[in-house]
Amino acid sequence: MEALEQLKIEVTSCTRCILSQKRTHVVFGEGNQFAKIMCIGEGPGYYEDQIGRPFVGKSGELLDKILGVSGFNRTEHVYIANIVKCRPPGNRDPLPEERATCLPFLLKQIEIIQPKIIVLLGATALKGLIDPNAKITQVRGTWLEWNGYQVMPTFHPSALLRNEQLKRPAWEDFKKVVSKYREIVNPEHFSAHC
Ligand code: URA
Repeated sequence: MEALEQLKIEVTSCTRCILSQKRTHVVFGEGNQFAKIMCIGEGPGYYEDQIGRPFVGKSGELLDKILGVSGFNRTEHVYIANIVKCRPPGNRDPLPEERATCLPFLLKQIEIIQPKIIVLLGATALKGLIDPNAKITQVRGTWLEWNGYQVMPTFHPSALLRNEQLKRPAWEDFKKVVSKYREIVNPEHFSAHC
């Protein structure tokens, strides 16, 4: 069996933290397992928990739009995962210990997928993967190198929905992702916005 499928089976039966007790579905992740871009969010919200897929609510719609204008989609260019695979009750932020408990699953996903570019969507993704003390407002839009991967932290789509003013900087961040993708993956890549 493929490594990612194997891992999905393991994650689906996980009971390592209390988030497993209230979940409807584990949200493992989805996209092209050979994608060169991995987008990492925070964790499932209400709709994701209901249907077991990442980013299917309002913030998912916006993410798809941003990806689309950048010339990317979930089936071909991107794999989407989250820091935690089960919904925190009431959509609260996942606790540091919940992030830490779930992190080995995400690290394994990254190891299997081997993306060239990782886009961190929001503070929880940044803190959970890179540094618990990092501030999204300080590092967004700058390339970080982590374990040989090129990492672009940007705002979470739900932050863009709450605050229109963050949309422009987020678009700028995605333009950088498009440029990097052309540089290291496909020089011919077409995007409508740059
Ligand atoms: N927000 C996230 O961070 N992840 C999802 O899957 C959905 C909403």
